Amino acid sequence: MAMFLIVGGAGYIGSHMVKHLASHGHDVVVLDDLSSGHRKSVVAGKFIQGDLGDQDLIEEIFSTSKIDCVMHFAAFSLVGESVELPLNYYHNNTAKTTSLLMAMARHGVDKFILSSTAAVYGEPENLPILETEPTEPTNPYGRSKIFIEEILEDCDTAHGLKHISLRYFNAAGASKEGEIGEDHSPETHLIPLVLQVALGQREYIEIYGTDWDTPDGTCIRDYIHVMDLAEAHILAAQRLMEGGESGVYNLGCQSGYSVREIISIVREITGKPIPAVESDRRPGDPARLVASSEKIKSELGWNPRYDDPERIIATAWRWHSANPRGYSDV
Ligand SMILES: NC(=O)c1ccc[n+]([C@@H]2O[C@H](COP(=O)([O-])OP(=O)(O)OC[C@H]3O[C@@H](n4cnc5c(N)ncnc54)[C@H](O)[C@@H]3O)[C@@H](O)[C@H]2O)c1
Repeated sequence: MAMFLIVGGAGYIGSHMVKHLASHGHDVVVLDDLSSGHRKSVVAGKFIQGDLGDQDLIEEIFSTSKIDCVMHFAAFSLVGESVELPLNYYHNNTAKTTSLLMAMARHGVDKFILSSTAAVYGEPENLPILETEPTEPTNPYGRSKIFIEEILEDCDTAHGLKHISLRYFNAAGASKEGEIGEDHSPETHLIPLVLQVALGQREYIEIYGTDWDTPDGTCIRDYIHVMDLAEAHILAAQRLMEGGESGVYNLGCQSGYSVREIISIVREITGKPIPAVESDRRPGDPARLVASSEKIKSELGWNPRYDDPERIIATAWRWHSANPRGYSDV
């Protein structure tokens, strides 16, 4: 069993990671400043409220806990906000990560897993997207992440830091037991937004563009269940602990679903009508983003269990319908 530091472990994906690690018998220390996370979502481990950029606090954590591996989920991740406030993103996402890496180097902690993103690819030319596709992010959020990926490579060369960057596509769903789930404010992700319509919290779902070059004219995205993401992190950590090399892996389900398809599945699962309003395209939205996840399947043996959108949405609906106001209801 190992000891993990989960930075950003009170967030949506981090909290599912904490639960998954604990269910595998690992020890977990969670660091989160609760800027967007929820204390109630941390169902296991030792919780420390604090900022990733607080060097004294980070120093204390590494001095008092023998951390084997760091998983780093903490970030600001609103693309539009990153365009308006780029320095906040470079400071929180990139600069503060370098303080964490410096502390790790001082304490000889040499295993690191990064929550990276499909946004590093920008508007890819080839589909499904392979890890070898050029990284040309179109916004500061995506750049703040690719910078970290590059810094990690330098740290490997200089200090032997072994790292895996996991480029997530669209995370969705909730733990199957239903006690934790997604609660972002503001919410920008399609599935929870459509579920808010089902709950009567929004009048309609807005569809941005119906004239894309896709079969039904709406954008296509690749959805991955949050627990399949968590499992991929465990496989990545195992690989590093066995002495494996650093690497970069996509995490998606390799099948894309259009906005209209997602809305229609939500109608079926919830039995609600879900009014939709068609609007103009948003600048910078690619028509299709679909990952190839063959590399992580073949190299790390990842095998997603929730590889259809019905199952993903069913777990999300269970959480949202039981907790319509998110963690305020827990
Ligand atoms: N949700 C997705 O679909 C998705 C897709 C691609 C990549 N990602 C990446 O995955 C990670 C997790 O995403 P999420 O949806 O769980 O986000 P989230 O906002 O729910 O979680 C991020 C957590 O980090 C914490 N945090 C932020 N800055 C911090 C700081 N300076 N110090 C300490 N804690 C801090 C927040 O309080 C929050 O609990 C992020 O890095 C995000 O960029 C998410």
